[in-house]
Amino acid sequence: MSQRLDPELESVLSKVVEPHTGVDLVSLGLIRYAKEGWGKISIEVGAITDPYLPEEDLRVQIAASLSQRYSKDKVRVTFTYLDEGELDEVGNRLREVLSVDERANLEQRKPLFAVSDSKTRVLGISSGKGGVGKSSTAVNLAVSLSKMGKKVGLLDADVYGFSVPKMLGVEYPPSVLGGFIVPPLANGVHCMSMGFFLSEDTPVVWRGPMLHKALEQFLVDVYWKGYDFILIDMPPGTGDVALSLGEMVPKSEIYVVTTPQPAAERVAQRSAYAAKKMKIPIRGVVENMSYFETPGGERYEIFGKGGGEELAKELDVNLLGQVPIEIPLRDGGDVGLPVTVSDPESRASKEYMHIAEKIVAMGPPRRYRSELKIR
Ligand SMILES: Nc1ncnc2c1ncn2[C@@H]1O[C@H](COP(=O)(O)OP(=O)(O)O)[C@@H](O)[C@H]1O
Ligand SMILES: [Mg+2]
Repeated sequence: MSQRLDPELESVLSKVVEPHTGVDLVSLGLIRYAKEGWGKISIEVGAITDPYLPEEDLRVQIAASLSQRYSKDKVRVTFTYLDEGELDEVGNRLREVLSVDERANLEQRKPLFAVSDSKTRVLGISSGKGGVGKSSTAVNLAVSLSKMGKKVGLLDADVYGFSVPKMLGVEYPPSVLGGFIVPPLANGVHCMSMGFFLSEDTPVVWRGPMLHKALEQFLVDVYWKGYDFILIDMPPGTGDVALSLGEMVPKSEIYVVTTPQPAAERVAQRSAYAAKKMKIPIRGVVENMSYFETPGGERYEIFGKGGGEELAKELDVNLLGQVPIEIPLRDGGDVGLPVTVSDPESRASKEYMHIAEKIVAMGPPRRYRSELKIR
């Protein structure tokens, strides 16, 4: 698919990274064509998604990489889509850049990120019941972590209603590259949803049993390489997902979202205990819809008070934050523009950012191996 490049040009372009995969354009074989002459350069790049929305970013990056030799206006970059055979070839190249350990994982059907020296933290966002703001929390925390410069994936595993792609503003489907699924990017977050692969009218009763298998596939077949965080929007309640997750991702951590009223807190508590039984550490509580503040600064605690603090105490973890009710937060969810993107200075956005900072500062959970005794 790609032509042989002049070695100097190749070394320059091998510093430009394809944003979905995190792998450079040369290693992926995506430079289909490069022609120099008359003081100009024309480059044709293979696009792995359709439409290819990071086009502008990549144009800028390519021009920047060539700035020693050409001024911006002398660099012409065009994008063309790849056919199925070419997409498979990119998949092979994705495999080639894996480490020995990562390849061994693939062979054993384990996630790429589950290698022993992995830096990837897997955060399950859970709640006792629906409607408390679990998905909003997952989306806005993912955006906040990404703003901190982290590479963030968000996996929508809530089979009772896939809402993450819409809330995040995903505008194109994942790519299938050989055996790998590569998530689309939206607002800095790599998003995967089981909803991409199920039709809207797949009955919920089927989705449950499909979930374990589907979750396994999503963890193993998605090209989760080089991620700092993978957030999982979990189905509400106790359940199989925590179990599956605990089995498949030994280092995962759970964050529980609740609203301030005591009843919600009790429901959240039950689901948290279930996670604890699965030996997945619960790392913190996020209280959502904590209050509404008028433009004049008056606060109303519409859904009561104290639920988050109470739950955190019960679970012996920190209450990481209290997110207010904000209209842009709801609107943003409806139109695919998270409040942390549309209005980063709002109280809710700042609160999400604080929570993200706390999660980063906490670091991954410590793991004790039972056979190791500390003297
Ligand atoms: N803090 C908030 N302020 C305003 N609206 C919110 C807030 N949190 C959630 N919502 C809205 O409430 C609804 C349910 O939230 P969602 O995140 O989908 O909950 P869940 O995933 O727990 O079912 C959505 O319409 C969402 O936009
Ligand atoms: Mg949801």
